[in-house]
Amino acid sequence: MTTHTMVSGGRELRSHIESLGSEAVELTVAARHEEAAGIISLTLRQADGRDLPAWRPGGHIDIATPAGLRQYSLCGDPSRADEWMVAVLDEPDGRGGSRWIHEHAFESSNLWASSPRDTFRFSPAESALLIAGGIGITPILPIAEDLAKNGARLRMLYTAREAGAHAFSGRCRALGGSELWASGSRGRIPLRQELEAAAPGMAIYCCGPDSLVDEATELANELGIGDRLRVERFSADVEAVRAGDSAFSVTMRRSGKDIVVPADVTLLERLGEEGAFVVSSCHAGICGSCETPLLSGRAEHRDQVLTDEEKAVGDCIFPCVSRALPGEHLVLDI
Ligand code: FES
Repeated sequence: MTTHTMVSGGRELRSHIESLGSEAVELTVAARHEEAAGIISLTLRQADGRDLPAWRPGGHIDIATPAGLRQYSLCGDPSRADEWMVAVLDEPDGRGGSRWIHEHAFESSNLWASSPRDTFRFSPAESALLIAGGIGITPILPIAEDLAKNGARLRMLYTAREAGAHAFSGRCRALGGSELWASGSRGRIPLRQELEAAAPGMAIYCCGPDSLVDEATELANELGIGDRLRVERFSADVEAVRAGDSAFSVTMRRSGKDIVVPADVTLLERLGEEGAFVVSSCHAGICGSCETPLLSGRAEHRDQVLTDEEKAVGDCIFPCVSRALPGEHLVLDI
């Protein structure tokens, strides 16, 4: 076995580790396993042996790579304070983060990550429909396991191209009500049928490729059950700054500074110019990393993290994409 004591990555990696700020956690890879073709799992421990920050099912961490911070869902056992697990799909044509992890993260390697963040905002339910596509199983599986442990009735559909391509298939099968779907031989999962069969009050979670999440969202809205659906995406087609955007003013409550965000600049960029540190990863309103408490003022929420109800409550904002509504002044707890 090859032993790697330090992950290499040069100046870019160091700058992305620095961008994690004071919450950077130095990790050691305790184990690496091939979970399915192109998918590895990494068991991670804190490098100094201390317990890790707690997380809830659906939570994720940002791992620093030379290509930037990359978001990975925690997919191990939340009751284990000594270790985290992530699964990484090798994407040779991706932006480079996952490829780098496949090439550099081996037993005894070190990685740096953020503390966990809760994007899915999972809550207990008596019954749930869980839909996962490909690597989208990673946030869904701990949610399903938690629900099953607490006696919920589950229906889980996990679609992958072929029979051997399902990661964590043993854990999935151990859950009652799960079905591993091979789309290469069976076609797309019958989403409409599954959603129509969802009993009243059933919580619905979906994570996977955009095509799957889009279809689930459209169908759930059409069936009038969109408020029960929680989704997580891997990518987003979001314009953070749009034609017609206007400048708006912001008070940074903790520092007492009043600033103006120009029409062609994101709130996140402007906060950075003022030296306000906000962790960010996707810059597209999907990862939840940059969540910032909003004390007053109404925002135009462009993220895909909050539900419509949470947007209406309006007590937080994702400044990588979101802005003030016309004429509104925002006060941030920052
Ligand atoms: S950086 Fe991902 S939501 Fe803002």
